[in-house]
Amino acid sequence: MNVTPPGELVTELQPEIREKIDAILVENLGKPGATMLVLTLVQETVGYISPPMQSYLAEQLDVPLSHLYGVLTFYSSFRTSPIGRHKVSVCLGTACYVRNGPTLLEKLKQVLGVEVNETTADNRFTLEICRCVGACSQAPVVMIDDDIAGRVDPSKIGRILRKYK
Ligand code: FES
Repeated sequence: MNVTPPGELVTELQPEIREKIDAILVENLGKPGATMLVLTLVQETVGYISPPMQSYLAEQLDVPLSHLYGVLTFYSSFRTSPIGRHKVSVCLGTACYVRNGPTLLEKLKQVLGVEVNETTADNRFTLEICRCVGACSQAPVVMIDDDIAGRVDPSKIGRILRKYK
């Protein structure tokens, strides 16, 4: 099946990303379950599916954008923005949850200006949630890349983040 010529939305896509998406579309348009198949392959190939990519894919797959967005948000394996240089994972396992984990998460959202699974505009941090990382005695815990910060006071999280450039 052919991929239709670029429309206005396409200009928002970087040419190299558009090329990768088109290669996936050419191979898979018209196959049963094409939407899920294409989204999975784009996620694997590009690493995320941004709003302009979503619009383009909805147009090419001939599905409503709301449907495509619904699929992306239902499955946690899909990302809608690139991964930042540092991954910040707030533990919401039981021990961390009862010892201020949710407050820590809200503070991080506020400090970073992003929601869970989003990346800051400067591409520095991606905020995620994780489950028990085996450091329950230090709850609440936040992992930054491979570092574990324990007994984190939410009001001090800005200071902890400062050393990650
Ligand atoms: S529950 Fe957070 S480290 Fe175990």
